Amino acid sequence: MNFENILVEKKESIATIIINRPTKLNALNKATIAELHEAFKGLDEDKGIKVIIISGSGTKSFVAGADISEFAHFGVEEGTELARNGQEILFDFVQNLGTPVIAAVNGFALGGGLELAMSAHFRIASDNAKMGLPETSLGVIPGYGGTQRLAQLIGKGKAMELVMTAGMMTAEEALNLGLVNYVVTQEELLPLAEKIAGKISRNSSVAIRAAIKSINANYEDGVNGFDREIEEFGVCFGTNDFKEGTTAFLEKRKPNFE
Ligand code: COA
Repeated sequence: MNFENILVEKKESIATIIINRPTKLNALNKATIAELHEAFKGLDEDKGIKVIIISGSGTKSFVAGADISEFAHFGVEEGTELARNGQEILFDFVQNLGTPVIAAVNGFALGGGLELAMSAHFRIASDNAKMGLPETSLGVIPGYGGTQRLAQLIGKGKAMELVMTAGMMTAEEALNLGLVNYVVTQEELLPLAEKIAGKISRNSSVAIRAAIKSINANYEDGVNGFDREIEEFGVCFGTNDFKEGTTAFLEKRKPNFE
């Protein structure tokens, strides 16, 4: 995979995507969003990859938002299409990916940057990270799922406050609100992401895919999450991983998943 705006590295079964526009604080332009789609799709189809980590290049920023210079002149239709297309090819796409995605937030995660981190299955952050949805200070609202996912993750009242004030929270505040799972120094961030990814990769990818579908069902319109769980639970019983996992337990050995 050859990209201009992102770097993709693979280490055994863990892939790391680094958004690489440091002079623009890794702002998401159209080309970067398209490349991220390609990268996530390709890695999800790669049977050798069990976990994907996403982070930003440099020490200052994860992603400082959507690239404002690209949409500042847009009208109503283009604005609507920008949000619709972005949600479809990147933000919803990542949320629904069967391969677990961990966002390692290494600095500013603003606007589309926080929205991307929130689309990941969970987040960890470095202690210099600053997170917020500053769109109302630009005369617009979050359009890549931010109004929905922020409220789901930290609750409606806090989300309302953050969006209305266009403020930024520190990594520590994000930790207290449950927006990120851990806060460590910048040097420790990717090693921690890799350590967690390593733990995940030892479990059944088939079961993890089913778990993601089941947990996400709670946030889908018109879907009963408990029904989805029953369905996915049953599907697991027909898999080789289930046979291997339960047999390995009974034989008192470690499972060897496909
Ligand atoms: N879109 C486009 N360019 C961006 C950007 C964005 N979202 N965020 C940063 N940049 C660019 C700046 O324009 C600047 O480019 P230049 O050197 O060619 O002028 C470069 O990245 C460095 O940013 P700068 O503002 O000089 O850094 P700073 O340390 O003074 O401030 C921020 C850092 C993150 C506070 C500031 O860049 C910022 O507020 N960015 C926009 C955040 C935002 O509103 N995001 C939501 C968009 S919907």
